[in-house]
Amino acid sequence: MAPDTMVTTTGLTPTDVAPADLAIGLDFGGSGIKGAVVDVRTGQLVGDRLRVPTPQPSVPHEVVAVMDGLVRRLAAPWSPSEGDGFPVGVGIPAVIRYGTTLTAANIDSAWIGFPAEREMGLAMRRTVAAGNDADVAGLAEIRFGAGRDQPGLVFVLTIGTGIGTALFIDGRLVPNTELGHLELRGRDAEERVAESARDRLGLNWREWAGGFDEYLHALERLFWPDLFIFGGGASKRADNYLSYLTVKTPIALATFRNNAGIVGGALIAHERRSRGSVSSSGEPIA
Ligand code: BGC
Repeated sequence: MAPDTMVTTTGLTPTDVAPADLAIGLDFGGSGIKGAVVDVRTGQLVGDRLRVPTPQPSVPHEVVAVMDGLVRRLAAPWSPSEGDGFPVGVGIPAVIRYGTTLTAANIDSAWIGFPAEREMGLAMRRTVAAGNDADVAGLAEIRFGAGRDQPGLVFVLTIGTGIGTALFIDGRLVPNTELGHLELRGRDAEERVAESARDRLGLNWREWAGGFDEYLHALERLFWPDLFIFGGGASKRADNYLSYLTVKTPIALATFRNNAGIVGGALIAHERRSRGSVSSSGEPIA
């Protein structure tokens, strides 16, 4: 195994779950690619969770080759007749329509216009589904986490290097909302509100929370949501800023944290394999 692989052993072993309920979820970020086999009935990780550094530059073919290696290692504990059948779902920090990445946030710009699902499917010889990273992570929260059984309009926000938004109406995803780029004081909101902006701008928590609160008020004013779910890096440090927020919308913290992208990836993979088709716009169907 490559020396730069980080391995975490999860709760379940390969024999605990029927192979038909298993799918592989991958979470592709600017610095790392994480993955695991997931029991799609419960959202639990099975076997090892692996993390490898994202190749630099993160050009599509290099990344796809790394993902392929990761998928092989993840499926290895199963027999080929079982493991080769696991579908793969990938969360990518990009707008994705009809399986093609149309933007590239914190990844190489060569992803713009890349037919990701087709190329990954050819490389891995499996069913591959790709979705926006926030949409995919949001799906995990809606299905099994903080958004479970939550009716109405729910926003899952991933607050990290950028701001990802996933919008759900009665549990169904409205894909590619990209509201991290809402204009706030004449600028792209995530420039001030992403967690990375706190360090970059040298803000203390109170100052950062002021901008974040303003952003939440803008979402509240425009969408009248029933619930905000905070995920991503900043959700782990919510104690530092929750008390500064003044929005009326209830707030919940993501349950899956670091694994939301992996779990959601497995969900879209499983969905794709079972339906054999995609939504009219090519995005994951919640
Ligand atoms: C991108 C989104 C992505 C989010 C979180 C934003 O900059 O535009 O596509 O979901 O970052 O990674």
